[in-house]
Amino acid sequence: MSAQVSRPGGAIAPDRRDAELEVGETPGRSPLDRLREFALRNPGDPRAGERLFFDAKGVGCVKCHQVDRQGTSSIGPNLAGVAAKYDKAELVRSVLEPSARIATGYQPVLIATTNGQVLTGLVRSETDAGVETDAGVA
Ligand code: HEC
Repeated sequence: MSAQVSRPGGAIAPDRRDAELEVGETPGRSPLDRLREFALRNPGDPRAGERLFFDAKGVGCVKCHQVDRQGTSSIGPNLAGVAAKYDKAELVRSVLEPSARIATGYQPVLIATTNGQVLTGLVRSETDAGVETDAGVA
């Protein structure tokens, strides 16, 4: 007897993708641990990475990041020289667990104003006269 299971996501079922990560990995770990292990063990492919980075229809890192002058978004930091700033483990963590360590200037803040408004956003500048967030000026 055979059972057919259909899953959303098309031809590559989630457990098939996991199976590809099984080379030399420690069994019984979470999918996140497996991805981290895979990324740390393998050298990576700069060309494939670049394609993914600039593919606005896919992962599209360029939707939030610039590298030098490539890209226009300033939602995330400019990633030029980021490989010299962090080791591989830290870079892998930034991609797999984006909120584990927030780059300076990118911590979201909540501001309660004296007139009872609550603003949330990223601090763009702060002076004695006021605080400017990407949500507005408080
Ligand atoms: C939805 C917007 C968004 C997308 C898409 C995005 N990022 Fe980010 N990224 C951010 C923001 C915001 C930060 C700063 C906050 C933080 O450090 O987590 C950041 C931080 C980073 C950092 C740390 C930079 C530093 O100087 O500390 C790296 C590395 C990074 N992202 C890589 C990537 C890669 C690679 C991709 C694509 C696979 C990607 N990001 C996709 C928004 C994004």
